[in-house]
Amino acid sequence: MRNVTIYDIYQHPIAQKYIRRSGMAHAISVAYHAFSLACEKGINPDLAAKAGLLHDIGHYTWYKDGEWDYNAYKKNDIHPIKGAERAHKLLIRLGENPKAAKEISLAVLLHTDSLLPEGQIQLSRLQEIVHIADEMDKQPNHQHHYRQLDQSKEKLLIKQLDKKIEAAPQSCSSPSIRTISLLSN
Ligand SMILES: [Fe+2]
Repeated sequence: MRNVTIYDIYQHPIAQKYIRRSGMAHAISVAYHAFSLACEKGINPDLAAKAGLLHDIGHYTWYKDGEWDYNAYKKNDIHPIKGAERAHKLLIRLGENPKAAKEISLAVLLHTDSLLPEGQIQLSRLQEIVHIADEMDKQPNHQHHYRQLDQSKEKLLIKQLDKKIEAAPQSCSSPSIRTISLLSN
C-alpha cells in the first residue's frame, strides 16, 4: 500500500501551480515513460513515476509576451535545485515515506545535467531513468512545454497510471492504445 498516490500529488495546489509552468501534459508523459523504463529495468515504478511527474516542478515563470524567454532561462535557471526542494516539501507534506521522498527529490535534482560539473556524477538507475524519460518526451523548439490536455484527460491518465503502478509488475506491458491517443493530443 502506497502512502501517497500520483493523484494525491497531481491534485495538490503546489503541484497544480508549479508543474503547469512547464506543462502538465509534459509532466504526465514523462511520468508514463519513467514508469515503463522502471518496469523494464526492475526499478521501483512508483518512485520513477513520481519523479517523472515532479521533475520540472522547480521552474520559474520565464514567460515574456506569452512565450518562454530562453535567453533569460539559460542564464538564470536553477529549476533542478528549486524542483528538488519543492518536490521534497510537497511529498513530506502529503505523508510520503522520508526515504522515498529523498530518492524522488534527488532524481528531480539530477534529471538534467545543465547544472552539473561534467563527468563528475555517477547517476543511480532511478536518476538515469528520469533523465531518459524527460529526453524521450522532448520536442523541437521546446514544444513539449506548450502541449495541453483537457483536465478531465489529465485526471484519467493520472488515475490510470496509479492503477498500473499498483498492479506492477503485471501491468508493465506497453501503454494501452487509449493512453497513447490521450497523450498525443
Ligand atoms: Fe522536462
